Parts: sequence; structure tokens; C-alpha cells
Amino acid sequence: MKHTDIKRLFAEPESFVGTSPVICGWVRTARDSKNVSFLEVNDGSCFRSLQLVIDKEKMDESVYRDAMAVGASLTATGTIVASDRNGIEMNVETLTVLGKCPSDYPLQKKRHTLEYLRTIPHLRVRARYFEAVFAVRDQLAQSIHQYFHKNGYRYVHPPIITGSDCEGAGEMFRVTTLPWNATAESEAEYYANDFFGRKAGLTVSAQLEGEMAAMGLGRIYTFGPTFRAENSNTTRHVAEFWHVEPEVCFCDIHDIIEIAEDFIKYIVKDVMDNCPEEMEFFNQWVEKGVIDKLNKMLSNDFVKLDYTDAIEILKKAAEAGKDFKYPVEWGCDLQTEHEKYLTDEHFGRPVFVVNYPAAIKSFYMKQNPDGKTVAATDLLVPGIGEIIGCSEREADYDKLVAAMTARNMPLENYEAYLDTRKYGSVPHSGFGLGFERVLMYITGVQNIRDVLMYPRTVGSM
Ligand code: 4AD
Repeated sequence: MKHTDIKRLFAEPESFVGTSPVICGWVRTARDSKNVSFLEVNDGSCFRSLQLVIDKEKMDESVYRDAMAVGASLTATGTIVASDRNGIEMNVETLTVLGKCPSDYPLQKKRHTLEYLRTIPHLRVRARYFEAVFAVRDQLAQSIHQYFHKNGYRYVHPPIITGSDCEGAGEMFRVTTLPWNATAESEAEYYANDFFGRKAGLTVSAQLEGEMAAMGLGRIYTFGPTFRAENSNTTRHVAEFWHVEPEVCFCDIHDIIEIAEDFIKYIVKDVMDNCPEEMEFFNQWVEKGVIDKLNKMLSNDFVKLDYTDAIEILKKAAEAGKDFKYPVEWGCDLQTEHEKYLTDEHFGRPVFVVNYPAAIKSFYMKQNPDGKTVAATDLLVPGIGEIIGCSEREADYDKLVAAMTARNMPLENYEAYLDTRKYGSVPHSGFGLGFERVLMYITGVQNIRDVLMYPRTVGSM
């Protein structure tokens, strides 16, 4: 159907005044008065809706009756006129209803709770809130690609089905074509009968393949779906999320921290520049002050804090009466409440916690000379907590094998990975950014289920 996007009309309103374009869209609101009817029509091309004005004396009611229903779809032509309130509006000349919308349409009301909208993911995308979320989500993805492209990274596409568990946390979903009642004499025989002739699962991280690619391409990134079968029913965890994973050769932990900060600032600024109306919406309705928060973040350095110092700060806070549910001791993993204290209360800005104890981190991280810690960092941001997991990788073959052996990892599954340390190993570093987490930080949306089209969480699909 030939028609003009509403976005184009609002982009150059003066040039459309007096013309009669064809527009299409869905009715957002319908108002009736004695002589005229008003329809707010949105076509998804931009955040704004176009007001259609129907002169009831000039148009038979049978033509527009079905259009006076929220959710109905239509196409219309008419003269574009200037309007004080809306910038422009259309005085309708012809109108055709494409799809009627009966009164049981679930989005009748102007406002619904987010909990209710989660029960209708196939329809909630038509609500203003989600229109804004998905516009920013799209822009954020574009900004991420742009950053890497401008900085000489190759975009590589690792497999989603894999045999290696990168994080070694046993959180892989299995991929199988065996029937539910398949039996076998042993585990080995069971998997030998499966599609790949061995145990397979969905990737928890593309890092290992990313490292292999970087060893030839120098600087790469991956950006794809990642799956975790972790039983975490929180507002920040889903079983399927999008993961951005750059890997950089000839780069140590300090270099990668600099890159991560530059990257976050670039993508946030790019989204703010390209989605001003959506950001205004979030600022007003979702997180009051989110624009100020982001501007403040852009103009300040992120804190770089040694893990050991973080523990000291938390201990002092506990001694001064801060009521943490989980006790703090050197060696413990930081809980959400600890992360929140550091970012929201103590520093009030993003914090890189650096040099975690080796025992609580993954096998691939570079072992520090102290023998206790690894060159790893998490980036924590106010309101959300961890958005990036990052490290310099252990480049020494023997040290890497020792770390894997200590974790009882089956070395035969990682031969290809170990080859990278055998043949021309180099210092290299990388990180993983949770795409939905940074989207939450930018928009102020509080629940990760509200930044995905179809959130997958434990017990719910
Ligand atoms: O810290 P993680 O587990 O790091 C890795 O997977 C590394 N292999 C990444 C790398 O160095 N290439 O995960 C990275 C990020 C987290 O900081 C978080 O933002 C996000 O992925 N994340 C999740 N997001 C939503 N739901 C979940 N269940 C997530 N688990 C991790």
C-alpha cells in the first residue's frame, strides 16, 4: 500500500501543510463531539500520533463508524493543516477501515498496569510505553554496532548450539532430539545416540569462540542471544537475553576498562541524541530524572575500586549500622544489596569493582601475581547493579590448564580453546554486556520482563 509514514509528516510539517498524503495506522484514541470526531492515529513509525479530524457534516457516519474504536486500523487521506496543539493534523477526506476492533480489545483503557500488560505480550507492543521501549531498544542495538564498526572491530557470528560451557556454572539448556523416554546403559552411550553424537547445549556466552576469532582478527565483537538455565526469579534475570561481547587482542585489564567506559558513554549518548521524545517520556513517566542521571554519568569518570577496598567500605557501612542481609567478608561474592550500596549510596555513579578473588570467578581470567585474585572487573551501575562482566584472559597455557583442572573441567572439550594459548598466545581482554540490563539503566524500566518482546523466565514461557 503506497502511503506516507507519519514520522515523515512530523519531520517536515511545513512542507506537508496543504498536501493530501495517504496515511495508515491504528486508532489510539477516539473522541466524538457534536459536529466533529477526532482520531489519534499511530503507525509505529514514530512516537507521535497524527490527529485526524472528521467533519461529520461532510462524511456519512457509516464510513467512519467502525474507525471510532480504539485499536481499529485504517487508511485515510485528507488535507494536512497547521494546528497549535499538535503542530499538524489531517482534515479527513476519505477513510477506509482496514480492520475493525471489537470492544473486548484489551487495551481499551489509557493506562494499564505493567503486570497486566505482561499477560498480553503480543498486544502490549501497541501501548505507548512499549512503543518507547522498543524504539530505544532498536536504537541501542544500532548504536552498539556503530561504536564497534567505527573503532575497527569485526562483527562475528558464533554458534548458538555448543558443546562447551563457557562460564562452567552448569546453567546450560540442553539441546536434544532424543525422545523423552530414551534409555542408555551409560551417560556416554546416551549422548552418543543424540543428534550431534555428544552432549550439546545453548550457549551461555560466546566468549570462547570470540577469543578464538580475535586471535586472527585482532578485535571482534559478538551480539546475539544467550541462554541461562539459572533459577533466579528476579527483576534482572531472564533465561534468554541478548549479550554483547567484544574481545580485544594486545589489551590488558586497564585498557579494557577504558574501552568499556568509552563504549557505555558512547551508546548512552547516541540513544539520548536519537530518541529525544522517548527519553522525555521515560523521564516523565518511568524514572523521574533519568535524563539528569544519564547526563551526570556522561560527564563524570566511573569509579575504579579494588575488590578489597569495596569489602572495606561495605564492612565499615555494616559497622555504622547499615543492615545488610548477607554478611561481608573478603572472599564473598557481592550481593545485590552490596552492589546497590556502592553505586547508589556510597559513590552515586557507576563503579568498576576490580581484582576479585579467583575462587569466585571463572577459569579463564588472568591470575594476578598475588596468587589470590584475578584481573577481572564487574561494572555496577546505580539502580541496576552489574551490567558488564569483564576480564583480562589468562594467556599462559600452563596456568590456564591448572585453573581448569582445579575446577574438574573436561580438558578434551576445550582443546580448540587451549590451542589459542599454544599457538601464538597474546595478552587479550574482553567483556560481556547484558543488553537488557543497559536498556533498563537507560530507560529506568525496573523489570527486565518489560524490555523484551517475549521474556523467558523460570516457569514462564
Ligand atoms: O558476567 P557474565 O556471566 O560474563 C560472561 O558471560 C562472560 N563470559 C562475558 C565475557 O567476558 N565475554 O555475564 C555478562 C553480563 C552480565 O554482566 C549481565 O549484564 C548479563 O550478562 N547477564 C544477564 N542478563 C540477563 N539475565 C541473565 N540471566 C543474565 N546473566 C548475565
